[in-house]
Amino acid sequence: MAKKSGPNWVKGKKNKEILELDRKYVSPCYTRSHFTVIDRGKGVHVWDVEGNEYLDFAAGIAVVSTGHCHPDVVKAIRDQAGRLIHMSGTDFFYEVQVRLAEKLAEITPGGGNKKVFFGNSGAEAVEACMKLSRYHTRRHRFIGFHGAFHGRTFGALSLTGSKAIQRSRFGPLLPGVTHVGFGYCFRCPLSLEYPSCDLACVRYIEDELFRTCVPAEDVAAFVVEPVQGEGGYVFPPAEYHKRLKALAEKYGILFVADEVQSGMGRTGKMFAIEHWGVKPDMVAVAKGVASGMPLGACIASSSLMDWVPGSHASTFGGNPISCAAALTTISLLEGGLIENSARLGAYMLGQLESMMGRHRFFGDVRGKGLMIGVEIVKDRTTRAYNTPARNAIIQEAFKRGLIMLGCGPSVLRFMPPLVVTKKQIDDALTIFEEAVSAVESQKIQA
Ligand SMILES: Cc1ncc(COP(=O)(O)O)c(C=O)c1O
Repeated sequence: MAKKSGPNWVKGKKNKEILELDRKYVSPCYTRSHFTVIDRGKGVHVWDVEGNEYLDFAAGIAVVSTGHCHPDVVKAIRDQAGRLIHMSGTDFFYEVQVRLAEKLAEITPGGGNKKVFFGNSGAEAVEACMKLSRYHTRRHRFIGFHGAFHGRTFGALSLTGSKAIQRSRFGPLLPGVTHVGFGYCFRCPLSLEYPSCDLACVRYIEDELFRTCVPAEDVAAFVVEPVQGEGGYVFPPAEYHKRLKALAEKYGILFVADEVQSGMGRTGKMFAIEHWGVKPDMVAVAKGVASGMPLGACIASSSLMDWVPGSHASTFGGNPISCAAALTTISLLEGGLIENSARLGAYMLGQLESMMGRHRFFGDVRGKGLMIGVEIVKDRTTRAYNTPARNAIIQEAFKRGLIMLGCGPSVLRFMPPLVVTKKQIDDALTIFEEAVSAVESQKIQA
């Protein structure tokens, strides 16, 4: 088990020195909640500059899919760095980028030949999907979803509908983006019950929006996370994405799946949308694709990717080192990590579900693979958000040597590296349950 870092986690000369420098020089817009300075990582563990060890169930926000510093990934990075660090795919060719495009085209759901545009981040992948959607369809509107998170650049931010603070004082944003309620049955946006609702949240788009104020023939794309990440680890019902896709097809609208967080084996399949049996027109990937090296990609069928030279580009996008890391990452995912994610994710979900009876703060436990959320509520009848208790559990877990993050107003998310073992899950859950009990006994309420 991870050495207990105890309540002294903020203590230590080096830790203090760096945090003070951070306060002085680093932009204050970030949302840090763990005041420790991480020095190194290996697998599912990280160590801070004071020597404390932590189990990392945040994985750099679902990024280090193969664990911290997987030896194969480190080797691929070292080898590539010794051969070619940068050339720019915008103006030149290099093999590793083409090989990665071939691999991504092969593994991404959807028929026919596909092509790949490379950027450096999730937001850039989403921007590329938005621009390509407009370019190809010559339509300007988008449908996004309440609770969605797609990134912070202006286009991606215009689709983001997760937290008001992410948009506050940045407007006006991109015109033509309309948000609708997501298939979040635990908190139905229309206060209905599934399945008797017959997915009224999807029908609303056609029956109300398209009829009244959003002409369907102006809509370029639905941009949707198969599983909402930042918005609260929300898994829509079984037929949700099929119904959305059918509606999109009816009006010649593209279905863009943002798999930045849910992709690359996280849910126990390479892409989360595979759980819903839908073939998207376009897919955005980033985060886990290169085990921590910056990389984003927009993948679409060749017939869709019809933009001409000069219409879009990125100097660093698909840089050789990130591409080499991604090729090794994908081979590790295919070589057993996706299977590990599915198997141990099911185990972990079962363990968390069995905690429901012991903890009155647990409103809902949901997940696929190693993308698992626990919704913390004041009580199960009102389902009222319990943000203070959620935040306190994160701190209590951290004091005991477990790193985790929240999402949405009151969800705790479990997203360990996909190399995690059953023993590490058991250790993490022991710490987690201690943390929950500690908070429940403090009677923290909003
Ligand atoms: C689903 C989704 N899309 C896009 C992004 C933006 O990615 P980035 O922070 O790399 O720009 C994120 C980041 O959390 C995300 O979860």
